Amino acid sequence: MADKPATPTHRPQWQALVQHKERLTGTSMREFFQQDPERANRYLIDGAGLTLDFSRNRLTDDVLTALTELADACGLSQRKAALFAGDIVNITENRPALHTALRQPSDEDVRVDGNNIITEIHTTLARMEKLVAAVHSGKQAGYTGKTFTDVVSIGIGGSFLGPKLVVEALKPYWQGNVRCHFVANIDGTNIAETLSRLDPETTLFLIQSKSFRTQETLENSLVARQWFMAHGGAEAAVASHFLAVTTNIAEATRFGIDPGNIFPMWDWVGGRYSLWSAIGLPIALTLGMDHFRALLNGAHAMDCHFRDQPAERNLPVVMAMLSVWYNNFWGAESHAVVPYDEYLKHLPEHLQQLDMESNGKRVSQNGQHVDYQTGPILWGGIGANGQHAYHQLIHQGTRLIPVDFIIPLQSHHAVAHHHATLFANCLSQARAMMAGKTRAEAEQEMLDSGVDESTAKTLATHKEIPGNKPSNILMMNRLNPETLGALIALYEHRTFVQSVIWDLDCFDQWGVELGKQIGNEILPRLLDEEKTGSAGDSATDHLIRRFRSANRP
Ligand code: F6P
Repeated sequence: MADKPATPTHRPQWQALVQHKERLTGTSMREFFQQDPERANRYLIDGAGLTLDFSRNRLTDDVLTALTELADACGLSQRKAALFAGDIVNITENRPALHTALRQPSDEDVRVDGNNIITEIHTTLARMEKLVAAVHSGKQAGYTGKTFTDVVSIGIGGSFLGPKLVVEALKPYWQGNVRCHFVANIDGTNIAETLSRLDPETTLFLIQSKSFRTQETLENSLVARQWFMAHGGAEAAVASHFLAVTTNIAEATRFGIDPGNIFPMWDWVGGRYSLWSAIGLPIALTLGMDHFRALLNGAHAMDCHFRDQPAERNLPVVMAMLSVWYNNFWGAESHAVVPYDEYLKHLPEHLQQLDMESNGKRVSQNGQHVDYQTGPILWGGIGANGQHAYHQLIHQGTRLIPVDFIIPLQSHHAVAHHHATLFANCLSQARAMMAGKTRAEAEQEMLDSGVDESTAKTLATHKEIPGNKPSNILMMNRLNPETLGALIALYEHRTFVQSVIWDLDCFDQWGVELGKQIGNEILPRLLDEEKTGSAGDSATDHLIRRFRSANRP
């Protein structure tokens, strides 16, 4: 009988980390900083326009070495090389995952089935460039000759979250007069509210779907087309107002999209890694093609950093290893991403899909059940707002929640001294998490402010903050197309490195299919009173009956 392949937990490097965790239990980051005045400098990495300060972690040099040894033993170098080379890294779908090729310069050579895909990628970029120029100049106009003023991007998941994040995050870089609106949800409110503000004569629709089979996207697209025609657009005008980005040319054509208006997607790009392809058209139309290319350049700079830097100086690798450290050795169940930048308000949503759809898995690459935790729950929101909401739990709750703080050194808006205040808030949170406040300090503070001794003693237990809570601070000089590109690519690679250590296929997403399947069985029962037979269980059947009676004419 063949030997069972080694799972990461059986590796000596994993066991060494178990020992390290035992050794570090009871120590504190406060001590680490006191013992090593150089700690802040040593645990700082620059790369691709970003700086990572990871000094506020339960980390020593020994632990960092042990983590790199684990990553090494799990085959990080080989898996990284396979990713960039276009090998089959998405095993269950038998595909490469070549989002890195989407941001490579035109003189590179990356082969899929013998063809250099860089040529196709740059031909598509040139087509996008032509479209953006034609729309911005008014050369490509609506059916009554009026210049397009609005783009409605219809797509969901990866065909929505990345473009929306980038469009909103780079508002200071918007060019031209086109404003983008996103429709994702099958909740009719989303499309009804969006269309109610628009003029069909000046609205361009982009149907964004890698598969062109996604129910939400197809139903919303049909509604958009009906609305367009009901408001004066002739059938023939659909051709000039509807574009699609998809791998499924046949379905898009059947829907009525002019083949000349279909931009390609490729099965070697995963949905959640696709904003760099023509799925990025909402970005290019809102920001202009130069800024879109700058975004690609920023991501490419991060790709080179990830490919070339040694593990302990490699931003995505260090962040991934720290995540594994807390997830698997300290019992952290979630990870928070807290950007101190209003423009990055959609980052946590994008990262939720990226990270949780990628690493929310329970079998290893060869299909064995894992005996360790995989992807944690990723959540977050913008600072400083979160400080007045959920940070209490981070500081004094019973759970360990590592946090990534993200902040640009310069703001796009010189409003009074807001940016200094914002920066102070970000630093204060990281410091409070790290240093906390001892009971004695809390008590002394109260005594100093005149509180009597007995009250001070009683309240001190409530005011004590344990500290020793880990956080990273990620910085860039300014949030711009290059640094945003690098930031998103950094999280893509962080996700990949985690999957290497956990031995997962991070490029498939079979778990989301069952819900779609069941939804398709329930829908006819909601729409058709005559449809009999159970939908599978009495609880579902009961609510189907409730829905029907609430919606009977
Ligand atoms: O439901 C999950 C998913 O398959 C995502 O992975 C994908 O990004 C999204 O649906 C949308 O898929 P498509 O682009 O094919 O419409």
